[in-house]
Parts: sequence; C-alpha cells; structure tokens
Amino acid sequence: MTVRSTVAEQHHSACVLVLVDSRDGLTRELARAVVEGVESVAGAEARLRSVDEARHEELLELDALIVGSPNWSGITGKLKAWFDESGDLWESGELAGKPAGAFTAGWSRSGGIEATLLQLLHLLLAHGMVFVGLPWSERMRRSGSYYGATAHGEVTEDDRVQARALGARVAEMAVTLRGASS
Ligand SMILES: Cc1cc2nc3c(=O)[nH]c(=O)nc-3n(C[C@H](O)[C@H](O)[C@H](O)COP(=O)(O)O)c2cc1C
Repeated sequence: MTVRSTVAEQHHSACVLVLVDSRDGLTRELARAVVEGVESVAGAEARLRSVDEARHEELLELDALIVGSPNWSGITGKLKAWFDESGDLWESGELAGKPAGAFTAGWSRSGGIEATLLQLLHLLLAHGMVFVGLPWSERMRRSGSYYGATAHGEVTEDDRVQARALGARVAEMAVTLRGASS
C-alpha cells in the first residue's frame, strides 16, 4: 500500500501543505493568512510547516502545496536546497496535476518580489503542478501579484486579504479535484 493511499483513507478533507521559510517572521506571518484562507474552505485542511521541520514524505500526503519564501533577491538557499532534495518526485511525477501557489515577503514592493514568485512558480511547474495565482483587483495596486501573495516591510490588511484569497483559491481547487477523483 502506498503512503498516498494510506493517507487518503485516513483523511476525508483535502490537505493543503503550506511550506514556508522565514528568518525574521514576516513570511511566516503572511503564511498564517494563507492558512486562514485554506481553512475558510469547507472540506480543506491546512498543514503549516517550516522548511526546517517539513519532511519530504509530506509531499506524498498533500492534495495541494503553497510555498512561501522571503524575498532574498530570489528564494532562500535553504528552500532551494529543500526542493533539490525532492528530485525523486520530479522524476516520478507524484505531484503532477495538483494545485499549487506561492507567496513572498520582502523589504521593498519593487525589490524583485515578482522575480522571487516566478522562481517559486518555476519549481512548482517543474513538478507538473497546476499553478494558481491571483486575479486582478484594485487591491493589487497595493498588494499581491498575478503570481501570488506578497508583503513588504510589514503585513498589512491588504496583504492578509490577498493571502487569504490565495489560500482559498488553491484549497477550492484541491477540494474540487479530490471530489472528482474519489
Ligand atoms: C540576503 C538577503 C537578501 C535580501 N534581498 C532582498 C531583496 O532583493 N529585495 C527586498 O525587498 N528585500 C530583500 N531582503 C530583505 C528581506 O526580504 C526581508 O528582511 C524579509 O522580511 C525577510 O523575510 P522574513 O522576515 O520572513 O525572514 C533581503 C534580506 C536578506 C537577508
């Protein structure tokens, strides 16, 4: 019996792994709003994990993945190293077809924030995941990107709204896909 089937039998709700790296807490704070968004969706549950504690086996247990990195002129080396260790899943395609999203927190709204999100997008697409972003809204003038949720300097209410929207959009897709495959 595979890990995946064991977990699917135990859990009826869609599991959304929110994987985050954060040195000083800003990205972690944004992650909590993403979790709120996931948990606002009936039939979805969030599992918040820091990159320090997350096990690669947990990738086999998820229905969707949302990854957050500080904007360190790109993602952190620690997060990249963690993904480098997921290469077996890249080959086997275990994550292909599952929904995914991204978020980042940095110091500046214009200091490379979208480049960091695109780096996360690249990693998730490389696993064959179905990337979910954010649609245009007036709020995007102040926070967020087509490529995911953002914060800079502090986590504002606009940032929280966008992060919750991202969590909810990914979770809704995960619940729908889980229903379609059961
Ligand atoms: C090595 C390094 C590189 C950084 N590069 C950028 C950058 O290019 N653009 C930016 O806006 N902030 C940059 N920052 C600031 C961090 O993104 C900011 O401190 C952020 O809050 C870190 O997230 P955390 O609080 O979750 O650790 C950098 C910080 C470090 C330590």
